[in-house]
Amino acid sequence: MNILIVGTGYVGTTTGVIFCEMGHRVTGLDLDDSKIQALQNGKLYFYEPGVEVLLTKHIQAQNIIFTKNTEKAIQENDVIFICVGTPKGTDGKADLTFVRNVAESIGQYMNTYKVIVTKSTVPVGTAELVTGWIASKQAGQIPFDVVSNPEFLREGSALQDALHPDRIIIGTESETAKSVMKELYQNFRCPIIETKAKVSEMIKYAANSFLAMKISFINELARVCDQLEINVNDVSKGIGLDHRIGPQFLRAGMGYGGSCFPKDVNALIQTAKENGHPLTILENVVKVNDEQPLFFIEKIKRYLDGELKNKTIAVLGLSFKADTDDTRESPSLKLIEKLAKEKAVIKAHDPVVKLDASQCRTVEETIAGADAVIICTDWEQYKQLDWKSLKPLMKAPLIFDGRNMLDPDEMKKLGFKYGGIGHF
Ligand code: UGA
Repeated sequence: MNILIVGTGYVGTTTGVIFCEMGHRVTGLDLDDSKIQALQNGKLYFYEPGVEVLLTKHIQAQNIIFTKNTEKAIQENDVIFICVGTPKGTDGKADLTFVRNVAESIGQYMNTYKVIVTKSTVPVGTAELVTGWIASKQAGQIPFDVVSNPEFLREGSALQDALHPDRIIIGTESETAKSVMKELYQNFRCPIIETKAKVSEMIKYAANSFLAMKISFINELARVCDQLEINVNDVSKGIGLDHRIGPQFLRAGMGYGGSCFPKDVNALIQTAKENGHPLTILENVVKVNDEQPLFFIEKIKRYLDGELKNKTIAVLGLSFKADTDDTRESPSLKLIEKLAKEKAVIKAHDPVVKLDASQCRTVEETIAGADAVIICTDWEQYKQLDWKSLKPLMKAPLIFDGRNMLDPDEMKKLGFKYGGIGHF
């Protein structure tokens, strides 16, 4: 099949190379010249492990091409995936401007029957809107179908998630579109759920919100555990082994960030409010998440005689989680903002993210002379550090582990004072 992917971010590009692996021909369309140039040369302009290898392979085999030519790209492909961003609008709802622009271009240029698939995370009812936007720009009546087919790709492990999905949701009432989608996904070994578009759209928001809820649950519980000197990691393990609960997304930390959970939980809260049934449980999920870096700062302050002013704090990790260069809604940046307000002297490091020239290049440089180290991102590299040899570089052997990733007993044996989140 000839597939067009509109929007070449981590979702679009990963989806594109996976379809190449399944034997389809893919065109990637983006309006940004520099992105198109990079991708056409087999270079990822963002950090996503494993994707570049497949990209290079399929560029060389001419299974995938990248273009800015919207008209040609729409006309030469049968299935069009919309993978553009849906950022948080000023009212807390998803901003659908990019989706609308794509839909209108499809309406304007389409010449034969097309299946238009929304992969971007969009509010309930968007498939209907997309249908209307396409129709509004059509000169004649060329048939088309709109399908909701949400993505469940985590940044940093997008490739694995795309290759081994837990399920595939196909949201459409058109039998023709359903059979096209099933053919597209025929090589995947996972349940396929066929449903209405609005159900599919809700599944996506509900999935992200539920996962965010698990995180806020364990994070709030960690505060009580802190007080009671209970290791919350032991509690996570103890409850996670119950199959009804499951072990995933129960790692206590500084809160969830990224381009998805914060935006999607808020969007669902708005949808619920507008429909007269506020999701108070999710409102509290957001509240706990907003408070979490501040809760951690208060704990850190207690170890530092209640004062952060003029204290040198080494921050390890800037991205919102490991294996990504994405800093959107990163708990690390929220913590840095608070440290700055308290007039601490901040030194920051990240293995991949480069925010500005003042950022330290090595961990050694970052922690030299520090009154305390705060681990904010769960990069494997930080786990593997030789903390014994790093200790003499610090002014005081104080470690705050915002990801509960180090072994507290081990750190204490090495002579560190250690504080995690519900973790001692
Ligand atoms: C999330 C979902 O996991 C994907 O299924 C979904 O497709 C994607 O959003 C999306 O909507 O596009 P992502 O935001 O890339 O993926 O990252 P996650 O791995 O889900 O992590 C989100 C945040 O939760 C991170 O800040 C992470 O550190 C935090 N987290 C995760 C915890 O604090 N504890 C955990 O146990 C798990």
